[in-house]
Parts: sequence; structure tokens; C-alpha cells
Amino acid sequence: MKEIRQAYDAAAPAWRVGPARLYGVLAQVLLDHAPVPVRGAVVLDAGAGTGVAGDAAWVRGAARVVDADLAPEILAPGGVAADLRRLPFRDRAFDLTVAAFSLGHLDDPVLGVRELRRVAPALLASAFAEGWTHPAKEVVDDVLAVHGYRAPDWYTAFKDGPERRAGAPDRLADLAVAAGHHDVRVSRVEVATGLSAPRDLVAWRLGMAHVAPFVATLPETAQQALRSEAERGLAGAPEVVVPMLVLTAT
Ligand SMILES: C[S@@+](CC[C@H](N)C(=O)[O-])C[C@H]1O[C@@H](n2cnc3c(N)ncnc32)[C@H](O)[C@@H]1O
Repeated sequence: MKEIRQAYDAAAPAWRVGPARLYGVLAQVLLDHAPVPVRGAVVLDAGAGTGVAGDAAWVRGAARVVDADLAPEILAPGGVAADLRRLPFRDRAFDLTVAAFSLGHLDDPVLGVRELRRVAPALLASAFAEGWTHPAKEVVDDVLAVHGYRAPDWYTAFKDGPERRAGAPDRLADLAVAAGHHDVRVSRVEVATGLSAPRDLVAWRLGMAHVAPFVATLPETAQQALRSEAERGLAGAPEVVVPMLVLTAT
């Protein structure tokens, strides 16, 4: 947990100018699937990061939105630094919790979803479908390797731990059922993100929490070189289309 918090804290500036755009598009689509009306609702954005899911709830007329995240540096002002497995909120303080791409980070996701159910009767969560990729991942990873990058242990464990990952529909549904939800649905939505310009693709990949802290340690000239090499490798790349799993549970 500590490594994840430190990574997201360190990645915050690069996340805001990179991944936030892609995650923002995904959040807007996610909120279309809310299991309860968002208009007038009190909403918790759990594992909020920069708060894109909470923003999407505001756009839909939420009465109040609270962002909570383990990593205080990535939160927008007013957000609450908290572990979503032990939230500092009373029972049923919210009408709806949105957990956008955050459950996959938990060692014990059932515990996390149980805690989310304690504070809100309805849950809307997302995860990347298993096996999804885009050329930007490989191209940027190859360039990073040339510059001496090695994936941090927390990320390798996260990627290699299928037990813990929420990227399979039955896994996501099982989580919600195990946490006590009754009406549980998982759907798969293909989201065309509009991201295809090499510059944007590279900003997305270099802003990810397992990469950005490493990039920040490089001299500015090496960072520029890395970006240019990766952008050249992504000329003509296709648009990022994300297969997103959407969990709704009440
Ligand atoms: C992939 S990011 C997604 C951020 C945001 N929801 C979005 O869609 O842009 C995952 C977020 O979950 C947060 N996170 C990971 N484990 C957490 C935990 N135990 N409690 C609260 N937040 C956590 C991370 O700090 C990170 O901001």
C-alpha cells in the first residue's frame, strides 16, 4: 500500500497532464451506467485520483461529491486522504460510490467493497478488461527500457497477481456478491477515447504511476529524448479504444 501511495503521489504532476485525459473520457462513459439517479445524489469518488469520476457526477447534477484517495498529492483541493478499506465516513453517508479503476489495486478487494457498501448502498466501478493493449504500451515500454527503466515491484505484483485483479467480469461480480450486494451486474463497454496523437499517447504512458516517478529522476535532456523517440515510434498509431468493464451493485 505504501508503495502505491508513494507512486501516485510522485506521479501526480505527470498524471494531471497525461493519463487524466484518458481517464476523464472513461469516467464520463462510466457515469452513464450509474445504478441509481446521480442527479441530487451524494456521491463518493473512491480512489478518486484527480477526481474525474466525481467531476462526471457533478456534470450529472450530483448534490455533493467527496473525493477520497490513498495518495494525498494526486487529490484535487478538498479531497480526503483515506484508504478506501477504512473510510472516515459514517454508515450510509453517501447514496452512491464510484470506484473508477481503483479496486484492482487492493490486496483484499472484498474488504474494500464491503467498506464501500457500508458508506453507500449503491456502487459503480470500472476495470480494464483483461488482455487489453494498445501499441503505445509496447513502444513506450521499449524506449523506457533503453533509458534504464525497470518496473517497480509493486507494479509487477499488481500485474502478475490474477487472484487480486478485477479485470475479469466474473471476478468483479464475485467481489460485489461476496461484499453483500444483491443486484450485481457487469457489462463490457468499448470506449473510443479520441486519443491518437503521438504526443498525447506518450503523455498518457509516461504519466502512469509505475513510470512517472522514474522519468522524473532523469535529466531534462534525457526526458526530452525519451519523449521524442517514443513519439516517433507512435506516428500513425490507432486511436485508443478501451474495453471497460462496468460493475453496478446495489
Ligand atoms: C488507476 S488510478 C484511477 C484514479 C481515478 N479513479 C481515475 O479514474 O482517474 C487508481 C487510484 O486508486 C488509488 N488507490 C489505490 N489504492 C487505494 C486505497 N487502498 N484506498 C484509496 N485509494 C486507493 C490510487 O492512489 C489512484 O489514485
